[in-house]
Amino acid sequence: MPNSEIQKKAIYFLVFAGVLSLILAILPSLEEIVRVTLMSRFGILADKKWVLAMADGGKPDAMIETLVSLASNLLLIIKIVIGMALVIASVRFVLFLFSRTVYRNTTQGEASSIIKTVLSIIIYIVAFFIIFQTHYPDVPLAPLFTGSTILGIVVGLALQDTLGNLFAGLALQADQPFQVGDVVIISGRGEGVVENVSWRGVSIRTFRNTLLVISNSVLGKETIEVAPKGNLNARNVFFNTLYSNSPAHTIQVVREAVRQVDNVSKKMRPVVRVRNLGDNGIDWEIKYWLDDFAKQHDTDAMIRQRVWYVFQREGIDFAFPTRTIHVEPKPEETDQIDRMYSITERLNRVSIFAPLCDEEIERLAAASTSRVYAPDEAIVRLGQEGSSMFVIIRGSVKVQIPENNVEKTVNTLRENDFFGEMCLLTGEPRTANVIADEETEVLRIDKNGLKPIFEGNPSLVESISELIEERRVTLKSADDPDHENKNAPKKGAIRSIKKFFGLK
Ligand code: CMP
Repeated sequence: MPNSEIQKKAIYFLVFAGVLSLILAILPSLEEIVRVTLMSRFGILADKKWVLAMADGGKPDAMIETLVSLASNLLLIIKIVIGMALVIASVRFVLFLFSRTVYRNTTQGEASSIIKTVLSIIIYIVAFFIIFQTHYPDVPLAPLFTGSTILGIVVGLALQDTLGNLFAGLALQADQPFQVGDVVIISGRGEGVVENVSWRGVSIRTFRNTLLVISNSVLGKETIEVAPKGNLNARNVFFNTLYSNSPAHTIQVVREAVRQVDNVSKKMRPVVRVRNLGDNGIDWEIKYWLDDFAKQHDTDAMIRQRVWYVFQREGIDFAFPTRTIHVEPKPEETDQIDRMYSITERLNRVSIFAPLCDEEIERLAAASTSRVYAPDEAIVRLGQEGSSMFVIIRGSVKVQIPENNVEKTVNTLRENDFFGEMCLLTGEPRTANVIADEETEVLRIDKNGLKPIFEGNPSLVESISELIEERRVTLKSADDPDHENKNAPKKGAIRSIKKFFGLK
C-alpha cells in the first residue's frame, strides 16, 4: 500500500473528525439557546438539567412537558449519534493504520478479519462505556457484567458453539500455523489455498475452485499440513522404466526435462533418484521445488508429460505393470560374430596392443567381457588382489590415491585407455582406486586371456613394463623418499611380469 493512500485516508479522517468535534463543541451553546427560547416562550424555569418549573411556582402542563422533554432528548440523541460517528470513524481509521503498517510489518500478511473483528468489538464496548457513563453517570453498568449470572448462563449456553469457534479462532491466530495465501492440506477434508480467516472459521479455495469452510473449533482438532506461500515447497512425481534402460542416462535426461517446466524453481536442482527395484522395472522418484505451490497439480502434470516426450526421443521405455516370462534365446551365431567384431575393433585402438597381429587380437577379444559401471562407482580398489585389466570403451575414470586422508586424482582415463594392468601383470595388489567418472563401459581381460599373447610377444611385455614404470612414478607422492628415483630401470617390472606369467 503506497504511503500516499495512508495520507489521503488520514486527511479525510481529520476533516471528518474535526467537523464532528466542532459540532460537539457548539452543541452546549445550541442547547442553551433552545432552553432560553423555550423558557421565554412558555414562561418556564428550566435549569441546566432541564428540570422544569413554572415562573408562577406551579407545575407545567403535560403538553409543555412533552415538548420540552422532546427537545432535550433530541439534543441528547444528536450528541450520542455524533459521538458514536466519531468513535466509528476513529476505530476504522485505527484498524486501517494497524493492518497497513504494524500488522503487515510483523507478519508479512493481511490482518485476518478475526483480529479486526475482535479489536473493533473491544474498542466499541469501551467507547460505549465512556459515552454512556458521561451522559448517565448515575447508572451503574458494572453489575450488568458481574451480577447477572443467570443471563450469563443463558447467553453462554446459546452461544456455546459460536464462542467455541471464536476462542479456537483466537488460539489459531495466536499460533499462526498458516496465513492467507498459504496452501493447506487437511487430512480427510481437502486441500486448497487459505482465502479468509474469520471469527467463525477458515475459508479454503480448493483446487476445484470450490470453497471449503471449516469452523475454527473443528480445525483446531485436525492435523494440518501447511505449505507456506513464498516458501520453496517440494513435490514428488513418480514414474518407472524398464530394467534395460540405463539409470545414469535416465537421471540426466529426466532432470533436464524437469528443469525446463514452468513453475519449477530455478533455485534448487531437481533430484531424480531410484526409489525401488520393482517387479516390473525400476521405480523412480522426481523431487522438485515449486515457485508457486498452489499450482502443484498443473506442474506435476506438465512434468509427467515432458517425461513422456523425453522418453520417446531418448528411447527409454516405461515399465508396464505386467509379469513377463522371459525365455532367454540361445544367442544367434551372427550376434556373437557382431560382438566379437566390435570388441576386436576396440582392442585394435588400444595403443599397447598395437604390436599384436589380427589373430592375437581376436584371441584377446574372445577372452574379454564387457561391464557397465555407474557414475562414482569404484571399478578397482587400492590394495585389493586382482587378476584382470580393463579397457574403457565408453565413459571415463579417475585414478585416485589417498594423500593426507583426501583422495587425490593422479590421472583421468578415457575411451581406448586401459587400467588395472599393474596388478594383473605383476601379481602385486592394486596400486590405486579407479572410479567411474560417469556411466562407463569397460572390457575386462583376465590373466588366462593374456598369457598366450605374452608368450608369443616379448615386445609387448617390454612396452607394458615401460608404461607400468611411468605410472609407478606418478603414483609416488612428493613426500615419498623414493620420489626422486624417477628413472628407475624398467627391469623390475619386466622381471615380475615374466615371473608371474611363468615366461622365460
Ligand atoms: P592396478 O595397480 O592394477 O590398479 C590400479 C590401476 O590404476 C593401475 O593398475 C593402473 O592401471 C592405474 N594407474 C595407476 N597409476 C596411474 C597413472 N599415473 N596414470 C594412469 N593410470 C594409472
